Amino acid sequence: MAANEMRPGVFMVGARDWNRRLFDALDPLPRGTTYNAYLVKGKEKIALIDTVEPRFTATLDANVSKQTDISKIDYLIMNHAEPDHSGSIPYIMEKSKAVLVATEKGAKLAQIYYNVPEKRIKKVKDGDTLKLGGKTLQFIEAPWLHWPETMFTYLQEDKILFPCDFFGAHSAAGVYDDEVPDLLEMAKGYFGEIMMPFRLMGAKAMEKIAGLEIDMIGPSHGPVHRNPKKILDEYKKWTKGETREKAVLVYVTMWNHTEAMMDLMADTLFAEGIEVKLYNLTTTDLGDLAGDLVDSRAIVLGTPTVMGNMHPLAINAVTLIKALRPPFKYGAFLSSFGWGGGALRQAQDMLTPTGIEMVGAIEVNGPAGKDTNKKIIEIGKALAKKIKG
Ligand code: FEO
Repeated sequence: MAANEMRPGVFMVGARDWNRRLFDALDPLPRGTTYNAYLVKGKEKIALIDTVEPRFTATLDANVSKQTDISKIDYLIMNHAEPDHSGSIPYIMEKSKAVLVATEKGAKLAQIYYNVPEKRIKKVKDGDTLKLGGKTLQFIEAPWLHWPETMFTYLQEDKILFPCDFFGAHSAAGVYDDEVPDLLEMAKGYFGEIMMPFRLMGAKAMEKIAGLEIDMIGPSHGPVHRNPKKILDEYKKWTKGETREKAVLVYVTMWNHTEAMMDLMADTLFAEGIEVKLYNLTTTDLGDLAGDLVDSRAIVLGTPTVMGNMHPLAINAVTLIKALRPPFKYGAFLSSFGWGGGALRQAQDMLTPTGIEMVGAIEVNGPAGKDTNKKIIEIGKALAKKIKG
């Protein structure tokens, strides 16, 4: 088999983007990413599953052309309409007579984003199949993973699942999962950034695929999982919102007073046996933070007051964390101010709608003294008790 042949007649034809450093103008990509596409050659028909980011269309062309003339592609399977996977649809549609296969919602987006004529679109529903000759594609509607139109494609004979964004990781390195030692950590950060807001839909999708025999998972970002049990086991926990005896502490500090309070909180939680991750927001990689939010039971926010409000970095972080909808249940808040408070009021306004139970909050003028430190330890112990349930 060729190096990029996953199974006889199933080829990886996507592109590696080693140099991309930001996704959605938000998520850091310290190790780049890939835009995976897969060519499936049946005895009678040929299907291309997903395409690539438009800047990499020439790479897709070159990789597909090693296996077949692009004009011979019969079906273009669009699992997801986002441009990192569908950006080359116009090129493939122009170079071939392919029929685009998508969900009902996907069909609409293909017309809006890529001007695909309706007569060249085949709409599919849950359980529909497409026979290529010795290779059968089965479609599984999996909405909101990560747009409303998303679906998975399952290659029955080879037992390969192509779930697009689901089960992905942002890594340009590695062809298979076992070639990237810390892949699960990277996949967790990716889940936190992209899938956690749609966790409930993810859990439904996990139920849908529970009955499938899966030998391989070919996601649209990162390595192919040829040991799929590992990522499947993790996704079962992450989509259910299973948390650990763990707290994430995020803070920003101007004169190190808030930082000292957070350090004391971290030490208190450590002493109580709680796993702690502490992030200074001036240097935090959002992917790392998002990964830790996936399974933390509590959050502690620390910020000084800046002109009557939380520090802008803290406002940004809380806005983002709320959008990611992590499964934590408990919280605490620590703040130091110079001449007038306000951060606590704003934190309450922002966090109350999340339903999080605030175990304690402190807003102090200047550095924390003996009494305040005593109170921090009390809150830390109370928080640890809640975390341990
Ligand atoms: Fe990788 Fe939702 O696109």
